[in-house]
Amino acid sequence: MLILGIETSCDETSASVVENGRRVLSNIIASQIDLHALTGGVVPEVASREHVVKIIPVIDEALKQAGCVLTDIDAVAVTHGPGLIGCLLVGVHTAQILAITQNLPLIPVNHIVGHLSSTWLAHEERIRFPIVTLTASGGHNELVLIRNHYDFEVLGETLDDAAGEAYDKGARILGLSYPGGPAIAKAALHGNPHRYHLPRAWLETHKNPKNWKNFNFSFSGLKTALLRLAAQEFSREKSDREKIVADLAASYQEAINEVLATKLLLAAQKFQAREIHLVGGVSANQDLRQKIQSALNMRRSSLRFRFPQNLTFCTDNAAMIAAAGFFKYSLNSRKFHHYDIEVSTENSHC
Ligand code: KG4
Ligand code: ZN
Repeated sequence: MLILGIETSCDETSASVVENGRRVLSNIIASQIDLHALTGGVVPEVASREHVVKIIPVIDEALKQAGCVLTDIDAVAVTHGPGLIGCLLVGVHTAQILAITQNLPLIPVNHIVGHLSSTWLAHEERIRFPIVTLTASGGHNELVLIRNHYDFEVLGETLDDAAGEAYDKGARILGLSYPGGPAIAKAALHGNPHRYHLPRAWLETHKNPKNWKNFNFSFSGLKTALLRLAAQEFSREKSDREKIVADLAASYQEAINEVLATKLLLAAQKFQAREIHLVGGVSANQDLRQKIQSALNMRRSSLRFRFPQNLTFCTDNAAMIAAAGFFKYSLNSRKFHHYDIEVSTENSHC
């Protein structure tokens, strides 16, 4: 089954053709990063206008690269939330028009469920449930227990900033570029992660995993601590600014990743997962991947650790939407021939 996926929830206009939820025939992403770098973050009105300009050429290119035409497509899957309302509407209206004119099923996909499905793409290996997945991106931070496709339980989420947002805000404090995650990761390569101790919001003692109950996250206190520390360090006379930035970036990355990795591993243990997955923009972070992998190695754990097969599946993309759409359609193929789908900014699943 060939699904055309469409994603416009934030700052990437993306279209993709995926076969049977796993084989990616094309995945075109028009990123707005350069545009939003000018303002240091996404301006919703600017983002939605850019989607309007890009959406048709991006879909054309996705079909072309997949070597197919619209009549070869079996269904259209589109992100209907959560996201920026004006941005979502561009993708949803385009998908509705395509589905109506071609008489195709139209599958609304939750953006976070899209991220959860990104680990299925571009390989043939068998994935075994139950899975505990950490979604860490600019807008979302959730730990989810997946018992089967579309059988989710949210174990925890952020109480304030998402991890990607914390990276973006931290980078701004340190005078680094947007998006902040890759910029902090790069600066941290030359820094000492133990020079500064920044707070970790465990939200509950993590010393005894048996008593561990709280899988929520909080990063706003960490951001404030960085703001204070950076102001203090930068004001010191004769300070080596480049070295300080590198050490602050490394210490900040360490504080974020330690919490993410620890909570993911504890949740996997508590819910007896067979696999752990790391998805969303922050899953591109090499230090975070290494932390998780080395913790598993140290415990000689048989847990299978996966993250998306390539970097374009970590950040927002339409291939993951097509994959999630395929699994949703497979559960009940009859209910997708009505075209009045609801666009939602709410942070909910399904
Ligand atoms: O999933 P995504 O493209 O968009 C949302 O759904 O929010 O994630 C974007 C986020 C940004 O906050 C960016 O700073 C972060 O992912 N990110 C990273 C890395 N690459 C992207 N964070 C840490 N390390 C990276 N290498
Ligand atoms: Zn996303």
